[in-house]
Amino acid sequence: MSNSSPNWWRTGVIYQIYIRSFADGNGDGIGDIAGIRSRLPYLAELGVDAIWITPWYVSPMADGGYDVADFRAIAPEFGTLAEAEEMIAEAHQLGLRVILDIVPNHTSDQHAWFKEALAADPGSPERARYWFRPGHGPDGAFPPNDWRSVFGGPAWTRLLDEEGVPEEWYLHLFAPEQPDLNWSNPEVRREFEDILRFWFDRGVDGFRIDVAHGMDKHPALPDIGWDDEELLAEPEIADHPHWDRDGVHDIYRSWRAVAESYAGTPEGARVFVAEAWVRTEANRLARYLRPDELHTAFNFDFLKRGWDAAQMRASVDHTLSSLNEVGAPPTWVLSNHDVIRHVTRYGRAAEDIAKPAGTVPVDVELGRARARAATLLMLSLPGGAYVYQGEELGLAEVEDLPVEALQDPIWERSGHKHRGRDGCRVPLPWSGEEPALGFGDAQPWLPQPAEWKELTVQAQTGDPNSVLSLYRQALSVRRSLAELSGASASGQAGIEAELVWRDSDADVLAFDRGSSFRCVVNLGSEPVELPADAEVLLASAPLPDGKLPNDTSVWLRISS
Ligand code: NOJ
Ligand code: CA
Repeated sequence: MSNSSPNWWRTGVIYQIYIRSFADGNGDGIGDIAGIRSRLPYLAELGVDAIWITPWYVSPMADGGYDVADFRAIAPEFGTLAEAEEMIAEAHQLGLRVILDIVPNHTSDQHAWFKEALAADPGSPERARYWFRPGHGPDGAFPPNDWRSVFGGPAWTRLLDEEGVPEEWYLHLFAPEQPDLNWSNPEVRREFEDILRFWFDRGVDGFRIDVAHGMDKHPALPDIGWDDEELLAEPEIADHPHWDRDGVHDIYRSWRAVAESYAGTPEGARVFVAEAWVRTEANRLARYLRPDELHTAFNFDFLKRGWDAAQMRASVDHTLSSLNEVGAPPTWVLSNHDVIRHVTRYGRAAEDIAKPAGTVPVDVELGRARARAATLLMLSLPGGAYVYQGEELGLAEVEDLPVEALQDPIWERSGHKHRGRDGCRVPLPWSGEEPALGFGDAQPWLPQPAEWKELTVQAQTGDPNSVLSLYRQALSVRRSLAELSGASASGQAGIEAELVWRDSDADVLAFDRGSSFRCVVNLGSEPVELPADAEVLLASAPLPDGKLPNDTSVWLRISS
């Protein structure tokens, strides 16, 4: 394994594979494990350290696989357990670590436990694995409290018994097909530790934890008393009854112990990354990263900042200082399968940055230039980074998918108000022409825009100015520089260099890492002078007259 250091995760670059949309090996229009295996060499060559694969477990796919019916088996449309094991081994041979996605907040309504719960009576041990409650009001006709589903509508659904008579309600913070587990039940805790071991025993290097801030619920299930928060966002109140409660930390301390128990194995101790939408100002994220809890967490604060030097710098500073207190490395993430692709976000007017897809004008070329500049920024900050499939091709959000194609439950549950997240999940363009641009042999499950023909991996390979070439070069330079990757001469991860800001104009970000590396990002509207004796290691765009144009970034070797 090329990245054999036990500390690989402190500076690792992790590539996110949304399996349904990455590569289709068997020609049914849906991405799969065979597709991933065929593209592992591409990922190794790209220069990432690890892959994170979104849920590949047996699932009715009511929420793209985040509704898991069996955590120990592979969805037939994605492949088999044997293929998964071979894929893990092949990735390791190519020097790529493998992170899976675990979804502990809820199961599918088709999970054996939920079926048992439905067949059992109110008050039974089978129901005690979830949150079943009688309704309020005459005949229990109203939900037990006012909690709302992230996908729209109430967070409770009422059961009907065999005769069609309404009985208890059950809690689902996401779709009704995703009943929430009751983590105060020791059986739930034991089961998930066992699932971790199941995959760790198969060589998996770690887990991304879905909704890591959601598992602990206030036992009295009190009302929230509000109705218009944005739910996949930080909770605005302290002591929220279901987000970011202190009880989650106890779960992670025991998970850490499970991960550490693998220290003597070839892969070493295993690692975690938390998906936790928590309050930034209150420093809540660092609590997940205390030394006996999780290793890393996605830094959504950075992702939410617009193309603005002061805002980005404030986010970097806050991240570094708050995580430093617990000794955890930061991570940087610009896109994923839940948010609007950053080419599109950065191509919007500043005030529109958080608006839903398809509702505001976008200058895609401007967005792409800024995205290129953001790549060099992100890859030269301390810590690790995430690359979401397709961002290395400069893909924009697909904002005009035909409504009949939309699959995200958000579309239906919002009463067709929000299109949802399909626009960042369109299958990748690899090569050639329609029908699938090399994604597979059949029409893909979501249609690809015709102009993606110009953006395939094949079209961009060999073009020194393509976004793909920029990512390849940036990852290669990053790996070769000890200041950024922490690599020592022996190839082992060591200690990366601290970030030190340089004086600059207000709309420029300039910082050093160590005594001879500098990154400069121009977010303003005037070209910026660069130090005369600096050597350009890599720039996100050409530098006419040796100056840094607006919406451009550069990595420099400076003489100290
Ligand atoms: C976060 C995942 O990233 C998202 O795709 C999913 O819908 C929710 N968690 C529910 O599992
Ligand atoms: Ca397939």
